[in-house]
Amino acid sequence: MSARTYEVVELIRRKRDGGRLDGAEIEWLVDAYVADLVPDYQMAAFLMAVFFEGLDRAELGRLTAAMVASGERLDLEGLARPTVDKHSTGGVGDKVSLVLVPLLASVGACVPQLSGRGLGHTGGTLDKLEAIPGFRSDLAPSAVRSILERVGCVICAAGPGLAPADRKLYALRDVTGTVESTPLIASSIMSKKLAEGTAALVLDVKVGSGAFMPDLGRARELGETMVAIGAEHGLRMAALLTRMDEPIGRAVGNAVEVDEAVATLSGEGPDDLVELTVALGAEMANVAGLEVAASADPPGGLRAALSDGRALSVFREMVRAQTGDPDAPLPVARHHQVVPARASGFVRALDARRVGVAAWRLGAGRGKKEDPVSPSAGVVCLRKPGEPVESGDPVLELRADEPALLRPAVGLLEGAVEIGPDPPARRPLVLEVIRP
Ligand code: URA
Repeated sequence: MSARTYEVVELIRRKRDGGRLDGAEIEWLVDAYVADLVPDYQMAAFLMAVFFEGLDRAELGRLTAAMVASGERLDLEGLARPTVDKHSTGGVGDKVSLVLVPLLASVGACVPQLSGRGLGHTGGTLDKLEAIPGFRSDLAPSAVRSILERVGCVICAAGPGLAPADRKLYALRDVTGTVESTPLIASSIMSKKLAEGTAALVLDVKVGSGAFMPDLGRARELGETMVAIGAEHGLRMAALLTRMDEPIGRAVGNAVEVDEAVATLSGEGPDDLVELTVALGAEMANVAGLEVAASADPPGGLRAALSDGRALSVFREMVRAQTGDPDAPLPVARHHQVVPARASGFVRALDARRVGVAAWRLGAGRGKKEDPVSPSAGVVCLRKPGEPVESGDPVLELRADEPALLRPAVGLLEGAVEIGPDPPARRPLVLEVIRP
């Protein structure tokens, strides 16, 4: 930490009044907060000032760098393959990582994915993978490296030593109404990805009812901000803005999503999941400098690696390397209930947020960080937008371990399914691509 100390109140006041902090001030503030020299109440006031007044590019770069420097960086130097990762801002039914990570490894990339657990209505990749009997996501850095060398990919939790400033700041933001700030989200995500040590990164910034950023303008601002931070730190980057107004695929939960991911790795995935995975994969291959970039389609491309079993074989190897049993049966919920269609016609919309909240309340997600999740609870969307339906046909299937959870979840799904006489117009999943 710098030998010089600063008057925290003065820094808070300056930001509150729209002024800017220099690099040394920002670095000191982050270091002093991590060292418990600045109390939560002062940091909370500073974060609220940032929430309203923002940070300019230089301030944001220094904040992100200070958060990275607060901990260790994973050492990925010297790996034989180019490293590349993907980060999603979180969606409903978003099991893309489970397919994409082994897919990219199967075509020559090295994918070190440090992932998170779910909070609220969007699920977490680690919760999904932990539905596989025996799977472990807490790995020591040496184990991460050895799995990367042997298998080419890993999906595990970020250890406590990586960007500890973000861990502390995020917990404070969560309880002080300061999560939804573009510079704070951008520095939080990018500090973890920079500490992870990957050389290239593709962001999936979700837009729509089920996303963190419901409107395109704010999602674009977040994507541009993160791409700029990454580029400044020497990361090869791109961001895709993708639609999140309906769940991805049909399964929302943990074991149900693993099941759908394995089907996709076996060449039998739903169209939207395959389309999104291939779009992100092509961009990852591109930023990683892999030849496969030019051919997302058969015979040589990403779709081929999904249908000929190469990606599935890497997934199974990764699961085994993380002590999971890829052949063990996945947990199954004891209680089911279907939600029937109220009319005949076509499903016009299926509200991602309501489906996500229902899956969460059925037990698939957690309300607090310490809560356990049910591996088997969730929602299966038996009909998706564009598909025909007869009145009374089952549209959604709810799964839970406790029968008492089913009825309230049905209530939460009131109005989630819109049925009309005509199918909705087909819209692309990828709305925009942002490159530096
Ligand atoms: N995800 C993060 O990692 N950080 C944020 O601030 C928001 C979402």
